[in-house]
Amino acid sequence: MRAVPVAITIAGSDSGGGAGIEADLKTFMALGVHGAVAITSVTAQNTYEVTMIHDLPPEIVAEQIRVVYRDTGIDAGKTGMLSNKEIIHAVAETVEELGFPLVVDPVMVAKSGARLLREDAIDALIRELLPRAVLVTPNIPEAEILSGMRINGLEDMMEAARTIVEKHGAEAAVVKGGHLGGSESVDVLYYRGRHYYFKAERIETKNTHGTGCSFSAAITALLAKNYGLVEAVGKAKEFITTAIKYSLPIGRGHGPVNPAAWIWIPAEKYRVLSLLEEAVRMFLGIPGANNLVPEVGTNIVYSLPALYARTVRDVAGVEGRITRGINRPVVHGMIRFGASSHMARLVLAAQRYDPRIRAAANIRYDERLVERAREKGYSICYVDRRVEPMDVKKVEGSSIPWILGEAVKETGRVPDIIYDHGDYAREPMIRVLGEDPVKVVEIIRSLAG
Ligand SMILES: Nc1ncnc2c1ncn2[C@@H]1O[C@H](COP(=O)(O)OP(=O)(O)OP(=O)(O)O)[C@@H](O)[C@H]1O
Ligand SMILES: [Mg+2]
Repeated sequence: MRAVPVAITIAGSDSGGGAGIEADLKTFMALGVHGAVAITSVTAQNTYEVTMIHDLPPEIVAEQIRVVYRDTGIDAGKTGMLSNKEIIHAVAETVEELGFPLVVDPVMVAKSGARLLREDAIDALIRELLPRAVLVTPNIPEAEILSGMRINGLEDMMEAARTIVEKHGAEAAVVKGGHLGGSESVDVLYYRGRHYYFKAERIETKNTHGTGCSFSAAITALLAKNYGLVEAVGKAKEFITTAIKYSLPIGRGHGPVNPAAWIWIPAEKYRVLSLLEEAVRMFLGIPGANNLVPEVGTNIVYSLPALYARTVRDVAGVEGRITRGINRPVVHGMIRFGASSHMARLVLAAQRYDPRIRAAANIRYDERLVERAREKGYSICYVDRRVEPMDVKKVEGSSIPWILGEAVKETGRVPDIIYDHGDYAREPMIRVLGEDPVKVVEIIRSLAG
């Protein structure tokens, strides 16, 4: 086996970068295979429209595949947009000649509604390509065309998947349930006489440009890595759910899915923990740090990038906080995600106004620290907690967003420092916010010095 598996996508280019070749390559990369391409068609496209399509000559489509195969080999391939019957014919012939496992995503219509496969090419797709496919991955409308039946629910999906396999000779078919309603998005695989279900929570988002492409590319990548078919579909389902959950809120139409989330989140988790550890060490090293710690303790928190930060579990902090010791502050627990609720919520609230804010720390209120912050030119905001409305006070966890909201109202931005004089049974506090925890601790150090 090669050190790095090679997968190829035979598909159209989406200039908007959300679907097609572009989505496939991101997916291949995220799943650790080397991605090669054979472009079938160049589309001028964004999140809501396809304005021009230029099909490439079938010979160069075939040649792109051959030249890659000759050099690095191809462990698995997929087709996406094939556009016309001449291209389908060239691809079918080439795949037959080279013999690598092929996933066929029978792309017919773009998310924006534009046709990506000519009407008269559907027949060629069915006759020439499906018999060579290890798997075909239609969505509901495509499955209706390929099976010749209406699909209204799970039972129909099962029957359609079986029909497509038995009628057209693909080795397996997975009918994707993205277009059906319901609280779950269920895909049905038919393979070697058995049905398999793959369920995931349905994510409320309009940003689903490229779901089908990334899903079939993920299966292809996993086949290239030698996964069995059922295993590959299961893992690809997890992959696509993550890519949809963290899809990109850009463009006026259907924003792109985010295949990079799969590797970006774990990578960022590692970076967050390392930098937070450094910041905590820096804090402990501040001369007189003990005096900076309030009664309730200090926490220093750092969140994943805003795109990935949804709940306090996406924010790392110090378990049990940092409390005042005899001579120096004491760190009680591990640095881990979900360790803070208070300061974590402050950062999450701040991100709603400014996505660059990812870190915060709280220190003991001392008028001299506030004075020094003023001298140094930090943006500072005082919030009077005595005027905090009763309904905010009563609801657990709503004070922090309120404080932040007041500060933003006052300063027109997320300030570097928010402080208050406390309230009944509430200790006065200084809260420092910033892009990362080292910057936050640097601010604190500059105030203490
Ligand atoms: N809102 C959603 N939440 C969770 N999973 C979804 C959602 N929409 C689609 N999926 C899943 O994404 C995968 C792709 O399915 P979908 O039906 O969207 O394909 P498609 O219509 O071919 O997509 P495309 O229009 O990008 O070609 C399937 O696994 C499906 O279950
Ligand atoms: Mg599709």
